[in-house]
Amino acid sequence: MRFFVAIALFASFTAVLAEQFTVIVGKDNGLAYDPPFVTAKNGDVVAFQFVSKNHTVTQSTFANPCQRMTTPTQGVDSGYMPVAAGATAFPQWSITINNASNPLWFYCAQQPHCTRGMVFAINPTADKTFDQFKAAATGGAATGSAATGSATSAGTSPSASAPAGNSASSIDRSAVSVLACITLALAMFL
Ligand SMILES: *[C@@H]1O[C@H](CO)[C@@H](O)[C@H](O)[C@H]1NC(C)=O
Ligand SMILES: *[C@@H]1O[C@H](CO)[C@@H](O)[C@H](O)[C@H]1NC(C)=O
Repeated sequence: MRFFVAIALFASFTAVLAEQFTVIVGKDNGLAYDPPFVTAKNGDVVAFQFVSKNHTVTQSTFANPCQRMTTPTQGVDSGYMPVAAGATAFPQWSITINNASNPLWFYCAQQPHCTRGMVFAINPTADKTFDQFKAAATGGAATGSAATGSATSAGTSPSASAPAGNSASSIDRSAVSVLACITLALAMFL
């Protein structure tokens, strides 16, 4: 009995730990992801909501922003997500982060959106910044402006979950051990 209570407590704690980021694709008919990058941890979900035109979220490498990644694995891809003018329900596609130490790079595969700066990053680093990535995409020195988005409408249709980057590992280990201790302590009192 205690064991199951412990499991239940543990599951609810870890569920609380994982965050969801919402990225608006094509806000105000723009060629942009809003926000343009996020810092996420293992277990977090980055959900893209496509609100205009016909965009993709396609994984590239830092070195080649406008080409789909082929090594070490084939980059993930939302596919084209067309949105009719005046639509009230928007397609959504999401990625679950399984290795936060591995930065992930994305672009819109619709021509010529990438070269106009429609790129996105998860966990850029001090060495590989979002601004450098965007500059490489546009072939010049681009300045990144990180506006914060506010979604005004919900509604989903296709939703996919894609493994991105390298394999395995789910939730930050130190956080898990702290929670495991709390959970065990609680379970002993029940
Ligand atoms: C979306 O764009 C792709 C690639 O350009 C094209 O093949 C597809 O027909 C477009 N879809 C719509 C509904 O416009
Ligand atoms: C996570 O990513 C880092 C950086 O790319 C890599 O060195 C490490 O091996 C990866 N870990 C796993 C478990 O794939």
